[in-house]
Amino acid sequence: MPQRHVPLPTGPLTGRRTPLRRVAAQACAALNQALDLLPLGRWLHRRIRRGLQLSELELRLRRPAPGLDGLRIAFVSDVHAGSFMDAGDLHAIFESVAAANPDLVLFGGDLINTRERELLHYREPLRLLRPALGMFAVPGNHDLFWGRDLGLWSAFLEDQGVTVLCNRGVRIARGGTSLWLCGVDDLTEGSPDLRLALDGRRDGEATVLLSHHPDFFFEAAAADVDLTLSGHTHGGQIRLFGRAPIHHSRFGYEQGWFQEADCSLYVGRGVGVTLLPIRIDARPEVPIVTVRCPVATGDERTGTAAREAGVGSGLAT
Ligand SMILES: [Fe+2]
Repeated sequence: MPQRHVPLPTGPLTGRRTPLRRVAAQACAALNQALDLLPLGRWLHRRIRRGLQLSELELRLRRPAPGLDGLRIAFVSDVHAGSFMDAGDLHAIFESVAAANPDLVLFGGDLINTRERELLHYREPLRLLRPALGMFAVPGNHDLFWGRDLGLWSAFLEDQGVTVLCNRGVRIARGGTSLWLCGVDDLTEGSPDLRLALDGRRDGEATVLLSHHPDFFFEAAAADVDLTLSGHTHGGQIRLFGRAPIHHSRFGYEQGWFQEADCSLYVGRGVGVTLLPIRIDARPEVPIVTVRCPVATGDERTGTAAREAGVGSGLAT
């Protein structure tokens, strides 16, 4: 296959945002860099990173899908590379993720903080991740902070082996069963279109949706999406007396599991921070979701045996 050439993001690039917005983005980046030079800022930032929690979770599917039993999904969201998060930090985080042995690594948006060149932090650390079924990503509001044109953002990620699922889906095959994995654009800064994301899904097919903003869950549940994975809230980032002063979800989807009919939403707390290197009562998190099948593979050994036997898997048509 011919090697594609993708220009590296350097300096101010795409975007149709107002000059004021760009000044705000530069000011935000400068504030982060200045704070990271201070011993206290660096100490806070390292302390947050060391608190990373890999949450082991289970999703029980409603319908039989034996080949998916035991599938492990790592959900990495809200990295905010460039905001107290450099290549060294990403290297340490991705090492932990790789050690969890996921079959899929899904990026839930806000990969960068304000500027596309912050993607460069990913170039080396991403090589640590080689999940058998691939890596996928959707944009978050910060990925669109500089501009609505995701061309370079997408091209960079695709070149690094991360498939962008912005209003589209793919079929993943594992052990003779298929999973429809799809993603939507960001709810607040982009133009999410679930109809496009589900275009191609078969009737009754197990479905996982990536949506940076959790408030998209109602629409996903109405469309019978088994699992929606979201971030955006940082688990409140700063919670005082059990409550976050700033709310990022109109429906209270701050962190953890939520249920609508038979459909599930998990809101991860994300791994990074914005503006200040502070997290209170909201540890950084990478959820690792293990899929369990209700019938036929009630015995967990089935999933384990499938993995050990290296049952045929990969992107299907
Ligand atoms: Fe975020």
